[in-house]
Amino acid sequence: MFSEISVPSRTIMTPGPVEAHPVALRAMSASILGQFDPAFLQIMDEVKEMIKIPFGTKNEQAFAVDGTSRSGLEAALIALIEPGDKVLIPVYGRFAYLLGEICERAKAEIHYLEKEWDAPFEQETVIEEIKKVQPKIVAMVHGETANGQMQSMEKIGQHCKENDIFFVVDMVATYGGVPLEVDAWGVDIAIAGTQKCVSVPSGLSLITYNDRVEKVLTSRYQKELGLSKDIRNKNHISSNYLDLSQLQRYWSEERINHHTEATSMIYGLHEGLRMMIKEGMENVYARHAQNDQAIVAGIKAMGLGFYGDLATKMPTVTPIMIPEGIAGEQVRALMLDEFGVEIASSFGALQGKVWRIGNMGYSSRKSNVLHVLSALEGALNYYGADIAKGEAVKAALTIYKK
Ligand SMILES: Cc1ncc(COP(=O)(O)O)c(C=O)c1O
Repeated sequence: MFSEISVPSRTIMTPGPVEAHPVALRAMSASILGQFDPAFLQIMDEVKEMIKIPFGTKNEQAFAVDGTSRSGLEAALIALIEPGDKVLIPVYGRFAYLLGEICERAKAEIHYLEKEWDAPFEQETVIEEIKKVQPKIVAMVHGETANGQMQSMEKIGQHCKENDIFFVVDMVATYGGVPLEVDAWGVDIAIAGTQKCVSVPSGLSLITYNDRVEKVLTSRYQKELGLSKDIRNKNHISSNYLDLSQLQRYWSEERINHHTEATSMIYGLHEGLRMMIKEGMENVYARHAQNDQAIVAGIKAMGLGFYGDLATKMPTVTPIMIPEGIAGEQVRALMLDEFGVEIASSFGALQGKVWRIGNMGYSSRKSNVLHVLSALEGALNYYGADIAKGEAVKAALTIYKK
């Protein structure tokens, strides 16, 4: 016999998934509604409007794609790419390569512009490369979760706009934690997810795009045969499930029958977004910034080093150098087992060298920051690391008491 699951309670200070907001979790246990029930359609309509606020956009189109954030990235890229199209991908961290993976499968001609992961690009460097490569699409990551660096992009966006190039941006790790300006930065499609600063379980991607993109979608629209024999299109998008031209019509007044919506997830998303908006986006960003300062102060006070340039670090992720002679995974395991706190390791060349403390959404709370700093100090002390003891929490408290 299998017994009922017993899920331990955790303090999650990773860069996602983070602790879901209790209001969102409560909403997710409400009764199921049919996907075309007028009560559910009203929830969808409100979600569409709320998604736009953290993106900083007045775009008509904004909705959720079923699937984790990469479903939105894939939907965005395959909406624009036709085989042989040139895509320029500036790489200053791991997730840029995910964009490349998706473009490769869509049979694009990919040009990577690569650099060390310790800082983002100077915008001029990217613009010079755009001039050389002349791509149809520039695809970039706004906040690189694996190395904690964040890219400025308004000049790149402006250059793309002036030259009729599509600018696609992954905002998965910054949406809801850092002010975003999709319209002002000239971003054509922006993508986010639910499990980070929105404080909702993983499972949906959030997307917004402008009229330029909508024109492409209109030109590639094909309706399913079972619904209509008339709307065929030789240039249709290569995926049915992730076809934005159909999804947009599912989320609009037309309400075409596409997938069966994950209605409980949409309830959670509604409440996650609503709680942010109720707090006030300026307050949400200020809370993330203050907790970030407290984390950085605590880590510095312990005498630990950081990976990468602190001036361009995302407020939502802090990458910390694992001290010489300390087994990173042992420390993480002790923190989880004895303190109930989770922090993250990293990827690629940073695996085993860097820990990451996340500071996102409902997890971005003073009590969590103090808890993670105490747990890290306790674990490092237990394993004999050479750190300044008793300083980290004091330094963080100094930030909060300012
Ligand atoms: C910047 C960034 N892009 C994309 C992804 C992929 O998101 P998901 O795991 O939700 O598909 C992540 C996940 O951590 C991310 O941090």
